[in-house]
Order: sequence, then structure tokens, then C-alpha cells
Amino acid sequence: MRRAIYPGSFDPVTNGHLDIIERGCKLFDEIIIAILVHPDKQPLFTVNERREILEEVLPEIKSRDCALRVDSFQGLLIKYAVEQQADAIVRGIRAISDYEYELQMTLMNRRQEPRIETVFMMAAEAYSYVSSRLVKEVYDLGGTIEGLVPPSVEERMREKFRKG
Ligand code: PNS
Repeated sequence: MRRAIYPGSFDPVTNGHLDIIERGCKLFDEIIIAILVHPDKQPLFTVNERREILEEVLPEIKSRDCALRVDSFQGLLIKYAVEQQADAIVRGIRAISDYEYELQMTLMNRRQEPRIETVFMMAAEAYSYVSSRLVKEVYDLGGTIEGLVPPSVEERMREKFRKG
């Protein structure tokens, strides 16, 4: 039984994340989608909202060959991964610019716990420029995010920005 952690802010989840989860499912028996609870960052969606959104959209993944679980964690990712008895951490890589930061994190995590591998998956071309940060910025400034996030995320964004 191979278990992976897919960690991130998921504020909000994008189609790029969902693509990584779908393809990651071919490699692992279980993926825990782990939302980072950041004590000093003001997210757009609360952890509970992000969890709800993920649980809403995960059933939309067509070919699900593995079990998917949504969870949240605080503090060190590698500690959480050990607690969850994970074999690997999954991360998506879009451009070369992601590489340096990901390499640093991977090496630091490996130094803490060499038994847990980090597995990188290349983002789908169609989403290689998509990030949660840009999605929020473009939407906030009146641009379109159609096709970049699941429709239910678009709906939640509409509500969120309407409320202000
Ligand atoms: O979606 P993101 O913001 O790119 O995810 C970044 C994440 C959650 C993977 C990273 O910030 C993280 O692992 N944070 C937990 C704190 C930690 O373990 N820091 C040391 C990393 S070597």
C-alpha cells in the first residue's frame, strides 16, 4: 500500500492541482491532499472552506484509481508525512522557476527524513501557467478564470468577492 501526501495551500484548488491528483493516482494507492494551515498568512478561503471545496470537486476526477482523502496540517510538512506513514510527497512543477524552491524544500525534507521521497510531476501544458495566486488576482481585477478552476470554485470566488 503506497501512500502519498499532496501538500499545498489550495487557496483555491485549480484544475492544475486536479490534474496532478488524477495522474498521481496512477502511482499511489492513496493520496492525502493536505492543506497547509498558515498561521501568519491571510488566505482568501478559510481552511474549512478549502476543505469543503476540495471535497466537492474531487468526485469530478474521472479516472480515480486510488483513494483520496482531504486533511489539513500545521507546522513541518515532513513531520506530518511521517505521522501519516506516507511513502512520498507529491509536488507539481510548472516552469523552471518552480524548480529552485522545490529542490531546496526536497533536500531539506530529505535531510529531516530520508525515508520519504518527493515525487515531482510536470504540470499539464494547459495549466503550466496557472497558480492560485494568479487566479485570485485576475478574478479580482475582472478577468476570466473559466477553464482554469472547477466551475464550483468560480462560483465560490464570485460569492467571496461579492461579499468583499
Ligand atoms: O501550495 P504551496 O503554497 O506551493 O505549498 C507549499 C508547501 C505547503 C508545500 C510548503 O510551504 C510547506 O511544506 N510548508 C510547511 C512548512 C514546512 O515544512 N517548511 C519547511 C519546508 S522544507
